[in-house]
Amino acid sequence: MPTKPAPATDLAPDAAPDAAPDPAPDVEEKRSTVRALLRLWPYVRPVRVRLGTAAVTAILASCVGLVIPLVLKWMVDGPVADRDPAGVWLGALYLLLLGLAEALLFGLRRWLVARPLAGVEAGMRADLYRHLQRLPVAFHDRWASGQLLSRGTTDLMLLRMFLAFPLTFLLVNGVTILVGVGIMLVQDWTLGLVILVPAIPVMITCGIFEKKYSAVARRAQDQVGDLTTVVEESVLGIRIIKGFGRHRSQARAFHELSHTLRGTELRKARLLAAIWAVIVTLPEVAIGAALVVGAVQVADGALSAGTLVAFLSTALALRWPVESIGFLLAMSQEAATATDRYFEVMDAEVESPGGAGAPSSVPGGGERGPASRGAAAPTRAAPAARLPAAAGADGLRFEHVRFRYPDAAPDSTPLLTDVDLHIRSGESMALVGATGSGKTTLTALVPRLHEVTEGRITLDGEDITALSREELRSMVAVAFEEPTLFSATVGQNVLMGAAEGAGDAELGRALAVAQADFAHALPQGTGTQVGEQGLSLSGGQRQRLALARAVVGRPRFLVLDDPLSALDVHTEAAVEAALRQVLADTTALIVAHRPSTVLLADRVALLSGGRITAVGTHHELLRTSAEYAHLMSGLDGHENDEGSQGGDGR
Ligand SMILES: Nc1ncnc2c1ncn2[C@@H]1O[C@H](COP(=O)(O)OP(=O)(O)OP(=O)(O)O)[C@@H](O)[C@H]1O
Ligand SMILES: [Mg+2]
Repeated sequence: MPTKPAPATDLAPDAAPDAAPDPAPDVEEKRSTVRALLRLWPYVRPVRVRLGTAAVTAILASCVGLVIPLVLKWMVDGPVADRDPAGVWLGALYLLLLGLAEALLFGLRRWLVARPLAGVEAGMRADLYRHLQRLPVAFHDRWASGQLLSRGTTDLMLLRMFLAFPLTFLLVNGVTILVGVGIMLVQDWTLGLVILVPAIPVMITCGIFEKKYSAVARRAQDQVGDLTTVVEESVLGIRIIKGFGRHRSQARAFHELSHTLRGTELRKARLLAAIWAVIVTLPEVAIGAALVVGAVQVADGALSAGTLVAFLSTALALRWPVESIGFLLAMSQEAATATDRYFEVMDAEVESPGGAGAPSSVPGGGERGPASRGAAAPTRAAPAARLPAAAGADGLRFEHVRFRYPDAAPDSTPLLTDVDLHIRSGESMALVGATGSGKTTLTALVPRLHEVTEGRITLDGEDITALSREELRSMVAVAFEEPTLFSATVGQNVLMGAAEGAGDAELGRALAVAQADFAHALPQGTGTQVGEQGLSLSGGQRQRLALARAVVGRPRFLVLDDPLSALDVHTEAAVEAALRQVLADTTALIVAHRPSTVLLADRVALLSGGRITAVGTHHELLRTSAEYAHLMSGLDGHENDEGSQGGDGR
């Protein structure tokens, strides 16, 4: 089942978020509550015995409750009619025992379900989280985070509540109503029929209610997701909001969304009120009618007083099972919606694991020849076939790589049309191109954050699609333009890039390479917690930690997306000096905007119009490529050659 893209909420600071996010989806009509809920079975299976036992216990408890009217009948027609006090006391004792048994059984049911259901919820949440981690970047580009968050919290809570109450009680109440009605019909079938008359309109109302409620429930849950997105974005973007004085418009936007949600919730309440009115009123009227008819019959002597008492107390005992149906149906609808929403995420396809058996995403890509620009002998691997390690050391190779973002229009020109580039083993290559030319995109293809549309990328001759993701990502380390840090200590953030068991020695070395020694001077040294997203650090500090994370694992391949942009010239020079040592035995692709960064690399490649249009040393390209000279200097022509060398600063 394809996923429904999350309704995107436009949160430009000056624009109010879309006040009416995508309402009920079009699949609404065809979906069946039962079918949706059946998908929960794999999660419920392990606790089915407990749930089953709990249901049987609850049915027993309910039936015990139904015996009470029969004891009443025996008391009224026997000891009470015969004025036998001992018999009345005995009857009272029976009633007390029955009441106790009913209470104990219901308590036992609660105890039986509480723990396993908390386990089911936790298991589903863990599965969702694991799945989210494995979903491709393209999925996360498409889905609003609040939508995912609300699915992992509110929706799962609704599911646990459904498993705890409606699932059991729809069954228990159904059985109780059937047994109760049976008892009433046996007592007196005319009175029984009087009671049964409202059943038909009640059932019709339930049918209508279910359909309407399901649509509103879906809308409400989606709106909760949108609201969560707004809250999350405004918390993360609080600096921008305050900086631009947008708190009022942001609050207004939030107010509008929550107002919409309130409207939807009120609609839910109105629907519930309507069904409740029908479900409560009609049986009440029927009981009244039965009382009148029964009283007349007793007066005529056609019916014993005890039977009428038993009949009416049975009817009254059935009141709660009937009345709660509306409520239980509503909860079931919400649970079905929650299940749909949960599986919309779970059904999204995860990244293929890669590895030897994985299909190459490169139909015929390798057949067009390597067309390598490098001088190293091209050791080409057949797609999806592993080369022995000895044949490696070919470096990083892009072969006819074509890439279009999955959500781009299918007839648009791909962002990367035909990228051919060979970075020799141990070489560092700078990647230069105008802003928006696709440099970041190209770097993201190497660790397979996005899949190439056509062509292939090889690491030491091995197609990256033939490597398992784990293998691939242990070979390649990345540092992105946005240095993302996590709420953890400085040390933990850096060591994320290292293999298990890496310790202080590796950490110290990486911090030194990235000139991030400031970390030692933090209040608790490398054990200092960085705030959420590392916002308690300066931009340059974050960037250096991200760089340390990239180099800490001594990767064979290093992909750096403009790693030094936020550094002052002196720090940059120091980082560069240290990086040179790392780059000496690493194959590296470094996106660069400044001549100083470019000079770190052995050669430079120019990305333009979706292709690599020139490769050479910085000085060669300054002479031969006007576009390159322009990008490096901001001026056309070669006269700035000296100026850019001066930019090196050393
Ligand atoms: N997730 C995405 N989905 C669709 N299009 C995208 C996505 N990410 C980037 N793009 C588009 O791809 C183009 C290239 O983006 P990219 O980030 O690769 O450029 P860049 O060369 O790194 O630019 P810069 O020098 O500014 O960092 C841009 O036009 C951008 O709009
Ligand atoms: Mg970029």
